[in-house]
Amino acid sequence: MVDWLQSHAISALDLVIHNAGVGYVGDVAAQTEASIAELVNLNLWAPIALTHALYPLVRRIQGRFVYISSVAADLPGPRYAVYTATKAALDGFVRNWRAELAAEGAGVTAQLIHPGAVRTAMHEKSGADPAALGWARFPTAERVAAAIEETILHTRADATIGRANRLAQWGGRNLAPLVDAFVMRRQSPRIDLPVGGDPPYALVTGAADGIGRALAVTLGASGHWVMGIDRDAARSLRTQADILNAGGVAQYVTADLSTLAGIGVTVAAASDRPPFDVI
Ligand SMILES: NC(=O)c1ccc[n+]([C@@H]2O[C@H](COP(=O)([O-])OP(=O)(O)OC[C@H]3O[C@@H](n4cnc5c(N)ncnc54)[C@H](OP(=O)(O)O)[C@@H]3O)[C@@H](O)[C@H]2O)c1
Repeated sequence: MVDWLQSHAISALDLVIHNAGVGYVGDVAAQTEASIAELVNLNLWAPIALTHALYPLVRRIQGRFVYISSVAADLPGPRYAVYTATKAALDGFVRNWRAELAAEGAGVTAQLIHPGAVRTAMHEKSGADPAALGWARFPTAERVAAAIEETILHTRADATIGRANRLAQWGGRNLAPLVDAFVMRRQSPRIDLPVGGDPPYALVTGAADGIGRALAVTLGASGHWVMGIDRDAARSLRTQADILNAGGVAQYVTADLSTLAGIGVTVAAASDRPPFDVI
């Protein structure tokens, strides 16, 4: 994109709107690896990467970045965990980055816009049933876009589109324990499995150093069998030896969890074991 802008002699940008998004829904366990990766890549990585790449052009004329988030970022709900995580993380990025921009004093601003549900094809494309959602009661894309444009033209402050959405967002932010408890109470358990293994089995990631190491050692001392995952093989072996020497049971697996291969190695190792009590 930067190449294209340069080849068209565009050397400055007033306004960048990060809007592209997907909204796959479904229980976390039922979602595919591909849809999880697409959600994180498009909804979170892309706006951060584009911000990084386009900042010099926006800075040149004190322009601004607008990020289309969602009220879902502040509201718990079944089947939206991954989508919501990307939007909540996007909010976190913008709030932190804005502080950097203020410190730099270059005049660039970053604005978060939170729409609620909109009557677009996103829901159907994402696997949700529009009829079950009561899709028809949502405002149209044109109405929401007009409200977003109005906001962008008149303020550089964050905004939430629609009074009911502002109220829901306020509740999600300020009454989180109550809202979470309310949502939990509305769910009815669908499975009935035995609770707790004997001995209890724990999997800890980042378990060769820092908090993860300390947790693995504590769990080992309290009778858990520990599987530790870390990318540092030497430190992993040392921690494993510490747990064994203290009379515990531990097995460490070397894996780089920032890669799909590392996730695969972890899943393969874990699938060979008794069920885990704690991950
Ligand atoms: N709809 C809602 O209820 C709602 C509520 C709150 C926030 N939002 C947010 O509003 C934004 C727009 O949503 P929308 O409802 O307008 O969705 P939409 O109707 O599906 O439109 C999104 C557009 O982005 C495109 N897109 C998807 N993946 C892309 C990719 N990898 N690279 C470039 N473009 C891509 C889509 O193309 P394809 O059709 O080919 O996928 C589509 O043209 C999203 O960030 C969404 O999270 C939506």
